[in-house]
Amino acid sequence: MVILKSPGEIKKMRESNAMVADVLEGLRELVKPGITTLELDEYAESYARKRGARPAFKGYSGYPFALCASVNSEVVHGFPSERVLKDGDIVSLDYGVFFGGYYGDSAITLPVGEVSDTAKRLMKVTREALYKGIAEAKAGNRLGDVSFAVQDHVESEGFSIVRDYVGHGIGKNLHEDPPVPNYGIRGRGIELKPGIVLAIEPMVNEGTYKVKVKSDGWTVVTTDGKLSAHFEHTVAITENGPEILSKTMSAQ
Ligand code: MF3
Ligand code: CO
Repeated sequence: MVILKSPGEIKKMRESNAMVADVLEGLRELVKPGITTLELDEYAESYARKRGARPAFKGYSGYPFALCASVNSEVVHGFPSERVLKDGDIVSLDYGVFFGGYYGDSAITLPVGEVSDTAKRLMKVTREALYKGIAEAKAGNRLGDVSFAVQDHVESEGFSIVRDYVGHGIGKNLHEDPPVPNYGIRGRGIELKPGIVLAIEPMVNEGTYKVKVKSDGWTVVTTDGKLSAHFEHTVAITENGPEILSKTMSAQ
């Protein structure tokens, strides 16, 4: 069942999502060769707690950290660790908070130092695909219009879309209906209405779309060992079109 949010609820979601955006902006400054992903996790957790928010992922289905940090061929749900980021890596940072009764959720992929042209293009295309999906997230469209726009952009650039993980509705729960696949057919799926809030999150692979979960039970990796990128925004469908909630307050 898709839960519609009132303008008052969307206002609260703007706050929790702005906090997520602020953390990701802070992490963007910290990511450079020599830092460990565990240091990034500590920053993300302490930022939320200082502001009276709860890191959304920690304890969610037993996930042990505040942040997901997925390096190179890791797709999503990578564990922060003592791993030192090195020049040429790419790292996907996925973060969420629970604040004022509502969840915020967003992700970015960042270069560490100087990265390959392929890595740069993979990140650019993934981010563009997210924004093409967001542009379709408007009242009167169907969910399939969003999914199709994401898939079409990614595949036209020669990359592949992960099938096994999808975006989601979000609100009082981290994951609500509807599931938001990053592949689909125009005109299909539920009709989008003002008050629907979606976390749209394309996961894009350099090679095959196929992924597997490592023996830690969480870390999702590409089966061919090639690179993967991930961008996510929480987006409200309003009378005036899509509104990205996971932006810093200064950008809103
Ligand atoms: N952005 C991801 C999602 O929406 C992060 C979830 S990680 C988990 O599913 F640990 F919370 F599962
Ligand atoms: Co999400």
